[in-house]
This record gives sequence, structure tokens and C-alpha cells, in this order.
Amino acid sequence: MKLLLEKIEKLKRQRKAVILAHNYQPGEIQDLADFTGDSLGLSIKAAETDAEVIVFCGVKFMAETAAILSPGKTVLLPDNSAGCPMADMLTAEQLIELKQQHPDALVVCYVNSSAEVKAESDYCCTSANATEVVNSLPKDRQIIFVPDQHLGQFAIDRTSRKLALWQGYCPSHIMITEDDIKEAKAKYPDAIVMTHPECTEPVKEISDQILSTGQMLRYAKKSKAKQFIIATETGMIHALKKQNPNAEFIAASDRAICPDMKRITLEKIIRSLEYMQYKVEVPDETAKKARKSIDRMVEILPAK
Ligand code: 13P
Ligand code: SF4
Repeated sequence: MKLLLEKIEKLKRQRKAVILAHNYQPGEIQDLADFTGDSLGLSIKAAETDAEVIVFCGVKFMAETAAILSPGKTVLLPDNSAGCPMADMLTAEQLIELKQQHPDALVVCYVNSSAEVKAESDYCCTSANATEVVNSLPKDRQIIFVPDQHLGQFAIDRTSRKLALWQGYCPSHIMITEDDIKEAKAKYPDAIVMTHPECTEPVKEISDQILSTGQMLRYAKKSKAKQFIIATETGMIHALKKQNPNAEFIAASDRAICPDMKRITLEKIIRSLEYMQYKVEVPDETAKKARKSIDRMVEILPAK
């Protein structure tokens, strides 16, 4: 492991590269990254960095977002097949059809979507700022929200706006059940339940806090509580423990694993830097249109 890490450091210097890792990445990848964070935080980091190469340890839509925000930089995804099943649940053609059914509506797309879907949207959002983005839109406009029905429902609950929802979902988050939360609460009655908005509505209803992964980290840091039940992808436990060594974090369900997030390995990062693979490129026209929706999102920061 030590040798692999040394090799990565050396290649990183040679390539003037920066390594970004999502909070769901395997622990050893989070530990070697220059920056870790949620989708919103990593998008902003990607736009700010002056490194020539960004190695994105996450899934394809995240690397695409980095490529859109950082024209002129090379964005590498160490495993070409690391995708997001939720993002794949909506194509640009399907969105165009939906827009035809609601011709006056504004479109908000969750960042977990393809560059082509972002290009067909007016606003992008992440789980950290969906509420703020929806709230910022004119009250007299209809809104289409894609592709996650559960984040969409969360935005409806928080804003009382009517949204036309696409029926996409995250296969990993819907694995967490209401019974999982009830069982964990019975075992750890003093624990605070922190839940990602991609979870189902019955799970969210019995949770204490509904937060993006970055917000979970900030909440745990500020809280006086010492035990937390975590309803999201299990990689989050590593990130939380690392930043809060004196608190206990219990995964609501061990089934909530995103296999795509776990495709990145140390060896693949080395190959990525050695062979400059796999380059994530977005055609100029698509990138230009998608960037508008992302820029609007970056301007609307979530409440801390
Ligand atoms: P965050 O934006 O909260 O990090 O979530 C990304 C994601 O893919 C959730 O499944
Ligand atoms: Fe997509 Fe779910 Fe994996 Fe997030 S956890 S990348 S939403 S499949």
C-alpha cells in the first residue's frame, strides 16, 4: 500500500494533477485525495483548482460536471464504467418529451444526471441546495424536477411548491428501510438519525435531519451528540469517523452500498495517471448549455 501511495504522489507531481474524491469512495481513496466532499463541494473545487489534471474519484456525472466547469483541464475517471444508475434513468430525449408536455415549465435537474440532460435544463441542483434552488424560482412558474423522485419530494415538502417529478431513484438509497431505522433507534435511543434526501419518504419521516453528505459532516462537527445513525451510502461512515473521532457512527443498513462508487482502486488511479485515462470530455455545444444550469446552481449556495 505504501509503495502504491508513493507512486501516486510521484505521478501526481509529474502530471500537475489534483485528486478529488467523493464521500462515498473507499476509505483508502478518501485518505489519499487532495479534496473530499459532496457533489456541490467537489464541483466548486474542480472549478477553482489551477491543476492541469483532475483525477475524479467518483462516478461519471461528477467527472462530467468537473469537465464542464473546467474547460482546458484534463478530467480523468480512473474507471470508465463507474456510472450512476439514477442518472441513467433519464435520457435527454425523455426530458425533451417531458418539456413538450409542460411547455411553460422551468426544469431543475439534480446534478446526478448526464451532461445532455443538464444541457436541456434551466437549473441544476445538488442534494445540498435543491430547496434553495426551487425556492428561488418565480412563484408563477411550473417546475419539472428530474431525475430523483425522492429528492424532488423532499423539495416539495420543504418549499410547498408543486413539482412535476420524474420517477428516478437511487438503487442504493432505497435499500434502507423504515424498519432499519426503527431497529437502529431501538438499539441506540440517544442517537441522532441523519438521512440523505435520496432515501424513501417513510425513512425520511422518522429521521431527525435530512442532509447532503457534506451537510452531514458539518452537522456532526457542530453537534454535541455522540452517536449518530447514518442513512446513506456506507462510505460516509469513514468520512464521518475521520473528522469526528470521538463520536460513534452507525450505518442504518449495510446494504446501502453504491457498487459504482467502489470501482475506483489505488491501482486504477496509478494507471489513470500513467496513461491519462479515462478522459471525460463533453462536446462544446452540450458543455456550453449545461454550464448555464450549473452556474445558476453554484450561485445559489445552501443555507449553512
Ligand atoms: P451528495 O451530493 O450529497 O454528496 O450525494 C451524491 C450522491 O450521489 C448521493 O447518492
Ligand atoms: Fe448514483 Fe446512488 Fe451511487 Fe449516488 S449512491 S452515485 S445516486 S447510484
